[in-house]
Amino acid sequence: MDFLTIEGGAALRGTVRISGSKNAALPILIATLLTDDPCIVRNVPDLRDIETVIALLVFLGKKVDRQRDYVEVTAGTPLLAEAPYELVRKMRASVVVLGPLLARLHHVKVSLPGGCAIGGRPIDIHLDGFKAFGAEIQLDQGYVDVHARDHELHAATFRMPFASVGATENLMMAATLIPGKTMLLNAAMEPEITDLADMLNAMGARITGAGSATLTIEGVAKLHGVDHQVIADRIEAGTYMVAAAMTGGDLKIENCRPDHLGSLIDKMHQAGIPVDVSGQTIHVSAPQSISPVDAETAVYPGFPTDLQAQWMACMALSNGQATIKEQVFENRFMHVAELQRMGARIQTKGNAAMVEGIKGLSGADVMVSDLRAGAALVLAGLAARGTTTIHRVYHLDRGYETLEQKLSAVGAHIIRGQE
Ligand code: EPU
Repeated sequence: MDFLTIEGGAALRGTVRISGSKNAALPILIATLLTDDPCIVRNVPDLRDIETVIALLVFLGKKVDRQRDYVEVTAGTPLLAEAPYELVRKMRASVVVLGPLLARLHHVKVSLPGGCAIGGRPIDIHLDGFKAFGAEIQLDQGYVDVHARDHELHAATFRMPFASVGATENLMMAATLIPGKTMLLNAAMEPEITDLADMLNAMGARITGAGSATLTIEGVAKLHGVDHQVIADRIEAGTYMVAAAMTGGDLKIENCRPDHLGSLIDKMHQAGIPVDVSGQTIHVSAPQSISPVDAETAVYPGFPTDLQAQWMACMALSNGQATIKEQVFENRFMHVAELQRMGARIQTKGNAAMVEGIKGLSGADVMVSDLRAGAALVLAGLAARGTTTIHRVYHLDRGYETLEQKLSAVGAHIIRGQE
């Protein structure tokens, strides 16, 4: 298994170029199941989760050609209606094949993804939405079987009890091919949803309201091929923004979407961290000190749960006390114990963490439990005195393209090893 060793204390200076968004690219690649025409997807990051989704598409019958600048998905063998445990287990986002396959084949069977480190993560909202479209659901031997009664699905108005990102993607994709007008109320408003809707509309879908809480989808008979460019990864950009602040460095973060990072930019300003935005570049320079700023995660445009761990690492170096509340996932504090090993003063109570800032963290051996927890540990290691060894790096490889190369290029002392 790979590990990372970081000699902390170097201020990061220079330019980092942001990759395409993992969480946009995954459903966008899956959306190619909605047509037999060739689809080109650009700005797809080179990540473990992308390899997994490509393997899933190939398993389901697509031909996938990954070039340096784009991924081309074309029709291969007739589509299969079943996604096995082996592939779904590796990546929960695989459940998003339910929507497109149900719409195209009127029957789909997918292994239930199960929970993961950050929480139980049920798919009840996805399934209730399919039921509203007239589908029947059966759970059998770890698989969920969704099929249209008499091969008929119908449009519906469905209010989501929580604005789930994955459920919005699944239901929006299914509805593109269901005759009539579907309305999704209390839909997720994340930029990744808007990117997916833009791609679907370019394929001939009729979706309005993406980016708001009400999505309206007029079903069409058929979707066609597309050439789509994935948006920049806001979470990767946010992670490098925090890295600049924590190391007292100076980073220009290029090729990103500052308009998707409003809540982090606000928090950084409140913390006294200089942040300037110009076009698609965010410039973060060294703060004199970091003031404590509370954060509470929420659906977009609130503070993203995917930046909660990184913000906690930053607050561990603030000059006061900050409270961080996790409102989206029930168990997303596994970085706390690891940050404590590096000297951080953090106490948790339920879904709240009280962070008392200290002058400096110290290097330690730490273990990654999930992707964003891993990002927080890298940030802490970069800012700490001494050596930090980060174990179980495979979690990070799911979501940060060429992490060591990008960090080394701006002055970090970071190397990968194998144990
Ligand atoms: N939820 C339910 N029932 C459902 C669906 C969701 O109770 O049917 C709950 C989940 O258990 C969770 C909350 O709702 O507590 C949020 O889940 P959501 O469905 O919104 O998230 P997701 O689609 O599973 C995506 C991202 C996550 C990101 C969340 C929230 C992808 C592939 N994943 O997950 O990204 O944290 O939205 O923004 O898009 C990451 O990149 O590290 C990551 C975990």
